Amino acid sequence: MSDLTTDADAVTPPAAPDFSPALTNEEGIAQATALFHEAFDSDPDGVWYAPGRVNIIGEHTDYNGGLALPIALPHRAFLALRRRDDRTVRLISPQTREAVDVLDLDAIGPKGTPGEIPQWASYIAGVAWALERDGLGPLPGFDAALVSCVPLGAGLSSSAALECATSVALDEIAGLALAGPADAPADAGRARLVTSCVRAENEMAGAPTGGMDQSASLRCRAGHALELDCRDGEVVHVPFDLAAEGLALLVIDTRAEHSLADGQYGARRSACERAAEILGVELLADIAPECLEEALAALRERGGEEAEVLVARTRHVVTEIARTVELVSLLSDGRPLTGEKLTKVGQLMDASHESLRVDYEVTCPELDVAVEAVRAAGAHGARMTGGGFGGSAIALVDADRVDDAARAVVAAYGREGFALPAFLDAVPSAPAGRARG
Ligand code: GLA
Repeated sequence: MSDLTTDADAVTPPAAPDFSPALTNEEGIAQATALFHEAFDSDPDGVWYAPGRVNIIGEHTDYNGGLALPIALPHRAFLALRRRDDRTVRLISPQTREAVDVLDLDAIGPKGTPGEIPQWASYIAGVAWALERDGLGPLPGFDAALVSCVPLGAGLSSSAALECATSVALDEIAGLALAGPADAPADAGRARLVTSCVRAENEMAGAPTGGMDQSASLRCRAGHALELDCRDGEVVHVPFDLAAEGLALLVIDTRAEHSLADGQYGARRSACERAAEILGVELLADIAPECLEEALAALRERGGEEAEVLVARTRHVVTEIARTVELVSLLSDGRPLTGEKLTKVGQLMDASHESLRVDYEVTCPELDVAVEAVRAAGAHGARMTGGGFGGSAIALVDADRVDDAARAVVAAYGREGFALPAFLDAVPSAPAGRARG
């Protein structure tokens, strides 16, 4: 037989899935403190952390006043920070270790103004700037060293993790006393910090995002998903202990390039604002599902290509909010996540992806191939998560099928000629706080 085997028959086994590990508290503290010593030759006052997030459902609903349902990841940004007696901010990360960024809190300002600062610095120094604009200053300067295991550019809120870690650190060193500890969080104070973190992202970094990522990082609870009403900032902690149900949430980092500041995200947001204006509502969340067809007809009446785009964007937002309401009510019914209930949850996730692919047009081939591959490998449901245009997908899978699902994606990416994806295990984790070893 072997005589007849040709090169073309020799199948290279697909590479083993690459899982990105999360740093423990001890590792985060040790690495951030070591970098701080190296750069500033002194001890930090402490190390603070904040998690990245994945959103279970409710995508592109936050800036429309709708519901989202994120969880905090075990993957976190760690910031070793020391208060200074002046208004200088000095920042270092493993990526910038050759040159410490030195900034003056009295001179920095929004993107596009003379005070503009490098993007990554705007997620840290920008938070101090925003807190002061929001009436919580004056703040002292600080030295800070960042170490993060939230994959960059993967749509997992690596930038919100920086902002939120900075906000809890400044909260403590400046005596704002808003956040409370991670195991007994002061939610109203944290909601206030969210506002300033979003302001840093919007104005200092120039990314016109909603508040879901920062809310997740500061306001989630371990073992729970965060039902976030983005109209009034109200939250409910929905039990979401997947391991206890024999399930897991697999994150697939497609490694396809993702950026929220490149105009596409802003274009989606503007389209929603335009549709709301035409329909005479403040936000698209004001359109009840039973009024959707009427609203779409009103948009269509205007005719032309723009109208069809607005119809599709509006349909996504209104149906996505309805799917989120339904999924939250399923998770909240106190029954085990098995049988028909599990099937329905999976269907809602699948329908969300379809709506984001067809109506919102924010998926890409890497995301679509990933969700198709995991579904074929037995996932209960799968969808892109976060802003889209690359980034990550999530899949709800049986805990003992995680590896099979990941392998199926690796194999499908090999067939498509895509770069290898990375994977994360998304255990619903604790919100931002001070790291204690
Ligand atoms: C990004 C933004 C969020 C949200 C999501 C889409 O993650 O930062 O505010 O709009 O996209 O749901």
